[in-house]
Amino acid sequence: MSRKLKNVLVTGGAGFIGSNFINYLLGLSATGSKEFMDSGFTGRIINVDCLTYAGNPDNLSMAVKQKDRYIFEKADICDRKEMERIFKQYDIDTVVHFAAESHVDRSILGPEAFIRTNVTGTFTLLDVARKYWNVSLDNKRDDVIFHHISTDEVYGSLGPDGYFTETTPYDPRSPYSSSKASSDHIAMAYYHTYGMPLTLSNCTNNYGPYQFPEKLLPLMISNIRDGKNLPVYGEGKNIRDWIYVEDHNRAVWQILNNGRYGEKYNIGGENEWQNIKLLNKLIDLTAPLTGKNAEEVRKSIVYVKDRPGHDARYAIDCSKIKKELGWQRKMTFEQGLELTVKWYLEHREWMDRILSGEYKNWISENYSGR
Ligand code: NAD
Ligand code: TYD
Repeated sequence: MSRKLKNVLVTGGAGFIGSNFINYLLGLSATGSKEFMDSGFTGRIINVDCLTYAGNPDNLSMAVKQKDRYIFEKADICDRKEMERIFKQYDIDTVVHFAAESHVDRSILGPEAFIRTNVTGTFTLLDVARKYWNVSLDNKRDDVIFHHISTDEVYGSLGPDGYFTETTPYDPRSPYSSSKASSDHIAMAYYHTYGMPLTLSNCTNNYGPYQFPEKLLPLMISNIRDGKNLPVYGEGKNIRDWIYVEDHNRAVWQILNNGRYGEKYNIGGENEWQNIKLLNKLIDLTAPLTGKNAEEVRKSIVYVKDRPGHDARYAIDCSKIKKELGWQRKMTFEQGLELTVKWYLEHREWMDRILSGEYKNWISENYSGR
């Protein structure tokens, strides 16, 4: 480990990836996987999250037990005064910025929240950090770091061949991906203009425990369990590259420790699946664990109206982070998917609690056939 990271501000730490990241830093893992408890971090975490529908304090039930190392601050990243107070109160030296509105379908129905949190929120945090750390091109610092979390969706949509590299021009299509692209540009502008000690990563689709069940995998696991319809957008031929969430977080940790300022790193699972093939694999795995017959469950697949502007394929070339930082994914897809399915099935109370909220209303108002 090269950088000394002491007071780490994690934004969006009550969400899917952020809560797994906090666990990883604290030597915990939702599934108890020993190979993902090796961060070696000894400092303190300040989790700033305003608890939108996607922010779930249940995700942090293990972390709260480490009272001297884990602090929760319910605050909005767009609230400059609150961010200034938090930087000062905890003498923040590290920012890991996960907080975002993150679901493409929601961004189509209501883009405003995405512009607010993803663009204005990111700008606010960057600006507060710049002033608190007093960085400029004449006062570069190497004892602080701001890591901005982004997505491969900023690169647009691929045809059947090729991969996104760190130099692929941005070409976002959805309100979600365009808001993330805007925030990436603002973050990089802070590096070039103000000497902000900054790194950025663009990752593919994550899967694992604590994911809100509006996203493909937890939604389908929950619907298989409950005998509900399995809605596939369009013909189900869109392709996504899937990475286990704890492998993503190990990559972020390696960047925080050894990444070069001003650099962006692609993180990928090298694991592409057509949606319909992935769903069939999931049915084969989930049906027997829920006492159902896979062929019967398959009859619940419903092809529904396609998502507008649905990107055809995402695939990441992650050779830079492998070569430069020695990162390598640890989890195979076979193992990771099985672990994930079992986790959701064994944590029925987690799923039921989260499904009883606003999410339920959102589905019934906006989609039929689910
Ligand atoms: P998530 O929706 O599960 O969690 C987002 C968290 O941010 C929630 O806890 C929410 O309460 C919080 N939040 C939202 N607005 C906020 C605000 N204004 N102030 C404070 N907190 C706020 O999202 P996720 O899937 O964990 O994604 C985390 C990050 O990773 C996002 O930046 C996303 O763009 C990026 N990413 C996600 C994926 C993926 O597959 N999920 C892939 C690549 C990149
Ligand atoms: P999602 O989990 O929303 O992630 P993203 O859109 O950020 O990639 O969706 C993954 C893929 O699954 C995407 O191609 C859309 C598709 N999809 C369905 O076919 N049905 C669904 O109910 C959902 C939520 C997604």
